[in-house]
Amino acid sequence: MATRQIFLVLKKIRNSAIAPYSKFRVGSVLKTANGKLYSGHNIESSSYGLTICAERVALFKALSEGERKFSEIHILADSGDFCPPCGACRQLLMDFAPEIRIVLYNQNGDKKYFRISDLLPEAFTPAQLSGVPK
Ligand code: THU
Repeated sequence: MATRQIFLVLKKIRNSAIAPYSKFRVGSVLKTANGKLYSGHNIESSSYGLTICAERVALFKALSEGERKFSEIHILADSGDFCPPCGACRQLLMDFAPEIRIVLYNQNGDKKYFRISDLLPEAFTPAQLSGVPK
C-alpha cells in the first residue's frame, strides 16, 4: 500500500481513538515483513497511567497474532506537527523490531522517516540480558 493510502487509513484509525481525557488522538499502522498491516489507536483509562499508545496497540495486536518481523510503523496524531513515539513505545520497537522504519505524518500528509536507532541511541536491548552470569 502506498504511503498516500496509508495516510488515509491513519486518519480513519486516529479518528477512532479512545482519548476522552487528553483529547489527543493517535493512529498507527504497523507493516509486517510480509506486507500485512495492523492498525492501532490510543486507548485511555480513567486511571490515566493505564492508557496505552497507538503504537503499542498495533504492535501487541500483531505479536499476539504470531507476527515477529516488522518493516514499518506509520504514525499520525491530532497535533499540528509530527508525533514521534514516546519512550515506552521506542523501547518496545527496539525489542521487537530493531530494523523498523518509522514514518511520521503531519496533517498535510508530509512525512518524516526515522530508524529506531536514531530515536533510541545507546538502547537497552535483549542482547544485554545474555551477559547475566548463570
Ligand atoms: N500517545 C500515543 O498514542 N502515541 C504517542 O506516540 C504519544 C502519545 C497517546 C497517549 C495518550 O492517550 C495521549 O496520546 C496523550 O499523551
